[in-house]
Amino acid sequence: MAEAKERVFSGVQPTGNLHLGNYLGAIRNWVNLQHDYDCLYCVVDLHAITVFQEPEALRASTREVAAGLIAAGIDPRHSIIFNQSQVHEHAELAWIFNCVTRIGWLNRMTQFKDKAGKNREKASSGLYVYPNLMAADILAYKATRVPVGEDQKQHLELTRDIAQKFNNDYGVDFFPEVEPLILGEATRVMSLRDGKAKMSKSDPSEYSRITMTDNADAIALKIRKARTDSDPLPESAADLAGRPEAANLVGIYAALTDQTRDAVCAAFAGKGFADFKKALAEVCVEKLAPIGEEMRRLTADPAYVDSILREGAQKAQALAAPILRDVHDIVGFLRP
Ligand code: TRP
Repeated sequence: MAEAKERVFSGVQPTGNLHLGNYLGAIRNWVNLQHDYDCLYCVVDLHAITVFQEPEALRASTREVAAGLIAAGIDPRHSIIFNQSQVHEHAELAWIFNCVTRIGWLNRMTQFKDKAGKNREKASSGLYVYPNLMAADILAYKATRVPVGEDQKQHLELTRDIAQKFNNDYGVDFFPEVEPLILGEATRVMSLRDGKAKMSKSDPSEYSRITMTDNADAIALKIRKARTDSDPLPESAADLAGRPEAANLVGIYAALTDQTRDAVCAAFAGKGFADFKKALAEVCVEKLAPIGEEMRRLTADPAYVDSILREGAQKAQALAAPILRDVHDIVGFLRP
């Protein structure tokens, strides 16, 4: 009999357009994990509303992100693609975790400090307990592997602390230990306008990012306009130190062509960025344009996307419901 595969869970927020950073940093890895793990990929709309979202924009974005996952190659027959609000177990377990986490733990979360900024008093309480919901996402399925970027590692640590405290408090060995899943050389895609800032959907400049639905012309234009310096490409990636914009473009090329940054430097050593950008635009268009086209096709058929999400939610719920029933028993809630 085949051994049971480990369960992977990851989430992406439906706020704004998906961009190259989402693709290279997360989604592309999620596609590859499907072969070795049982995967659940969740569009986390409950997390999105920790900061106000226009309802119509949230609906559109939820569908767009789902379309992006499917277009990039996540296969709904193998993996579960769903949106968080359709599986009420997430919110329910999050409440229980609100009662497990200590306020001191939440006070140490750097993302809350960053997102709330100076105006902590005006941040939603949802933003504060955001990491408890993230722990619930993962543990509602007893998932053990979570692909996340650097910025989410602290939340994953908190998930481990919550699982441990729950097990301790109730004297059970119920929730598993969750491990981050780190995949090869992490691709941290930076803004095309500023090599020191992460590529982000909230950057006011459209030229800072390539979105997954940009057409070939837009991709080529944004790369042509990307900030660089006037030095040629060096022979090895180590010599990109102190050249953040140059390093970013080399990193994007390396990721899109599945090479090391050293190999890319070796191939283009001595060439200027005008030449390199032409090559980079070509590979970007080659890899992204078909995904963008498929996304547009899917977005034009919201009923289809909705049906995938609905089926995904049913499958997800079938996994989470029995785990939540056990949690109710452990905590001391009466059976319905
Ligand atoms: N907090 C994650 C982010 O902003 C998204 C997320 C929500 C997530 N729930 C999760 C990631 C569970 C991994 C596992 O990127």
